[in-house]
Parts: sequence; C-alpha cells; structure tokens
Amino acid sequence: MGTEATSPQSTSRRVATSDDLEVSAYLEIAREKGGQQPLAQQPASTAAEAVVVVDFGSQYSRLIARRVRELRVYCEIVPHDATWEQVAHLQPKGVVLSGGPASVYEEGAPLAPPWVYGRSLPVLGICYGMQVLAHQLGGAVMPGTRREYGHAELHQDAAGSPLFAGLPTSLPVWMSHGDRIERLPPGFRSLAYTDNSPVAVMANDQGIIGLQFHPEVAHTPAGKAILANFLFHICGCQGTWTPKNFVEEATERIRQQVGSGRVICALSGGVDSAVAATLVHRAVADQLTCILVNNGLMRRQEPERVVNTFRRNMKMNLVYVNAEERFLARLKGVTDPEEKRKVVGEEFIRVFEEEAVKLGKVDFLAQGTLYPDVIESRAPENRAAAKIKTHHNVGGLPTRMVLSLVEPLRYLFKDEVREVGLALGLPAEMVQRQPFPGPGLAIRIVGDVTREKLEVLRSCDWIVMDEIKTADLYRQLWQSFAVLTDTRSVGVMGDYRTYGYVVAIRAVTSEDAMTADWARLPYEVLAKVSNRIVNEVPQVNRVVYDITSKPPGTIEWE
Ligand code: XMP
Repeated sequence: MGTEATSPQSTSRRVATSDDLEVSAYLEIAREKGGQQPLAQQPASTAAEAVVVVDFGSQYSRLIARRVRELRVYCEIVPHDATWEQVAHLQPKGVVLSGGPASVYEEGAPLAPPWVYGRSLPVLGICYGMQVLAHQLGGAVMPGTRREYGHAELHQDAAGSPLFAGLPTSLPVWMSHGDRIERLPPGFRSLAYTDNSPVAVMANDQGIIGLQFHPEVAHTPAGKAILANFLFHICGCQGTWTPKNFVEEATERIRQQVGSGRVICALSGGVDSAVAATLVHRAVADQLTCILVNNGLMRRQEPERVVNTFRRNMKMNLVYVNAEERFLARLKGVTDPEEKRKVVGEEFIRVFEEEAVKLGKVDFLAQGTLYPDVIESRAPENRAAAKIKTHHNVGGLPTRMVLSLVEPLRYLFKDEVREVGLALGLPAEMVQRQPFPGPGLAIRIVGDVTREKLEVLRSCDWIVMDEIKTADLYRQLWQSFAVLTDTRSVGVMGDYRTYGYVVAIRAVTSEDAMTADWARLPYEVLAKVSNRIVNEVPQVNRVVYDITSKPPGTIEWE
C-alpha cells in the first residue's frame, strides 16, 4: 500500500506553465529527438547556497521547493537516482527527501542515493523520505494498522530541538501515510509523536531528521517555521537568494554564456518572455534583438503595449512584424482545436525564422522557459500526457538556424519570475499579467476563426478585463476571459428580435494550471459584465458563465 495519496494531477495532461511556448515547442522536439543538437546545456545556477530536494514522486515535491525558496534559499528538485556528479555544482548545504507513493519494504522501492549519507550533509526526510531514512540507516518500517490521513496533533517528546525553535510543544500537522517507523535506526531518537505515530519526528546528532507529517502544506501552519529551522539552524543557510541577487547572478551568467554573440528573443507580451528579454538586455544590451510577431490573435491594444514598453521605455532593439493577414489566411476554415494550434505554431516559426534570417548571423535564442516545464519534460509519464493538447508538438523545426538557448528563467517558478520582473523595473501591469496562450484568441473562438469574430471577441475580452480589474479581482484569478461560442441564440432588444452569438465567461483560480476551480465571482460583477457585453457588442445577445472545474474541464475551451 502506498504511503501517500496519489495526486489527481498525476492523471492530468501536461500544461503550459510558461505563456511563451511557441519557439520552445520546436526546439523541445529537437531536444527529444536528439535533432541537430543546437541546444547547449544551460549553465546551472551559481547561487551561493543551495538545498537539494530528492524527488520520490510526491505530489508535494514542487511545493517543498517553493517553500524553501520562499525562505530565500535556492533549491532544485532532482530525481531520486541523481548522482553526486549531477548535484555537485550546487554545493548543497542540505538535502530534503520528498514524500512519495511507494512503500520502502516493497521490491524495487526507490531509495536515496549514497551521496545523501556520505557527505555529512543535514538531511530532512518527509513522510516517505523519513521511511527511506529509517530503512536505509538500520531502522524498521512496517505497514501501519491504519492509514493516517489529515489533521493530527503533534506533541514534542522533549523541548530543545533546534527543529522546533520558537514553536509550542504541541502543533497541528497534516499527515498522509500508511506506513510507520517500527524501530528507530541506531543513533536516532524520537522527537515527537501523534496519537497514531509513536515516532512522528526522529533525529540523530548529525542533523539527519525524519518528519512523518508534511511541513510544506498549508494545513501544517507551523510547517514553514519548521523548514526555516532546518535551513537556518541545521543547514546553516543565510537566506540570501533574493530576486535582486538572482538578477545579478543571472546577468553575469548570461554575459559568460553569450560572450560577444548575438541573441534573438520572441516577445509575446507574456510575463516570461518579457522578463527573459529584459534580463538578457541587462546583460548584453544591443547584442539582443527582440521580435514581436503580431499574429492577429492578440488582445486589444496588446501589440502596441509591447512595442511601447520595450522599444520606447526599455530602449531595446525590437522588430515588429504585422503578420495578421498570413495567420488569418492559414486559419481560414480550420475548426479543429489541435489543427489551430498546429497552424499558429507553424506559421509563427516561419515568420520568426524569416525575420531572424534578415538579421544576419545570430548565435542564441533567448526564451522564458520556466522550471515546471523543465521538471515535467524530465518525467516520461508527463511527456505522454502532453499529447492531449499538443502544446509541444506543433510541427517541424527550423533547419537553417543553429542556435544555442539562453534560458535565464529555467530554474524559476512563475511567481518568482514575477518578482524578478519587478526587480528589473518592468511595469507591474505587465509582470502581474494573467497567462495568455500562445495560439491566442484562436483557441477561444469555437469553430473557424475570422476577422469579424476576432473583433467581437476582443470587445468582449476587453469588457471582462475592465470589470475584473475594476472589481479588484484580476490578481486573485489565475485567468479570466471571454470565449466566443459557435452557438447563436434568439433574444429581444427593444422591439426587435435578435439572433446573436453566445459568449461564455471563464474565470478560474489555480496554483499552477494543473488543476483549477471556477471562480465564485460576485453576482454583481457577472451582471455588469453580461450587461455591458450585450449592450456594447451588437453581435452578442447572450452571456453564460462557465462553472466547470479542471479536471474534468480544461481552462481554455479548445
Ligand atoms: P488548459 O486549457 O490546458 O490550459 O487547462 C492550461 C494553461 O495553459 C494555457 N494553454 C496554452 N498555452 N499554448 C500555450 O502557450 C497552448 O496551446 C495552450 N493551451 C492552453 C492556458 O491558457 C492555461 O493557462
């Protein structure tokens, strides 16, 4: 029996965490097929202090990494079979062993690699990670008589452990396990217990600690303080990994990587490409040229805004290409959502490539790949899941250009990218922007995409944005937008019968787009949006609200 509930996410398909995936879509194919090998290995972080999270497949591994980084300690997730050679460059000051669905006494259960024990590093084993410690260090783990799932009250055996510094002797914690420690490994003592776990926390004098509960989840209110105690009191970290320091380090790394080479970057208006481009610009100034392809599928005023920000305010070299006609011509009559993605992706890369070739010799392609994309493309099961919407499988790849990638955000989560963007002086409006899909409004128009429908949708989208911002809800929502359905319905306006489009409003809350819930928008806001759309957009006479969560729905309609 597994020790941790399996995640509903594990069955969901891969999603785009970065909103600028068009270019990487092609290059990732090159990487997977081993293509022409234009993809130089990215230099890893050179953060002064780091902690490694060894991943045993927990749904919470990312959350652990995020919590550690929130405490300003750089942290990377590595697979459970990572070798010392793979992590040595990080010079870790400590290791966290994640939870996971296996049981240590099962044949083939994943265990910690030897370096975890052989380098005198402090180790924090969480849930399955604790059982791994007990199992490998000479203790005994057995199936519990009952699973312990949910809230429990943790009581310290004896006060004074640095792990609990500043915390009361009893704490609410979140449990999720079936196995338990039956016998402590030699040299270990129990630090705390719950009703169901006689050993809920164990430790030895070398700073190896096991927690049966999950400190990383919000249901363990003191969890962050416990992680902080581990990092600062036991690993001796200082917490120096700030957005400002990241900017300094990243700038230096980019300079080293790029040298006197030339860099291109596709700007989309999204946060990730904006921050990536700004960092690269900070590092190598005019060696960078950005390309903005207006595919005609952007929102109202979006292309102008991007041009203003980057050309006028940031003084970057920016090539603006109006390719509206080309995209619309290629999309004519295309109704299948995957086909739309493919067409938009292919056309994009064609235009981008044409512009890049005009620039002469280019050596690097900068893009805003984020850490979740990196983690996911490591896991083969997630790659299979990617096929459901082929974000990363949209056609051929550029054959003429051989470029190395500059991916300065490769080790950052989305919220960290936003912080870095602010530290770089990008406008808050751009940095806080909700994600917008690469294929743009094309996948928010059910059925074929026409200029007329795009205009209708832009008007509706504008109203949704306006009202959501006026109600001060924009930043609380992961995404909020309008969808133009292919349904028409009868209405009445004044003395006239109307026959117009049905528009759906979609607003969701989410942590990372893997799962999402429909937002409980106030009725007054919905009323205002509906009223304005029907009054201000003549082609629309009915507005509905989408109350589907993900899963089973997706965030986008197509
Ligand atoms: P779904 O609809 O899959 O969306 O729940 C999850 C997140 O991914 C975005 N999305 C895309 N982004 N290209 C992108 O760059 C795409 O083809 C694409 N499809 C969905 C979506 O907006 C949401 O944030």
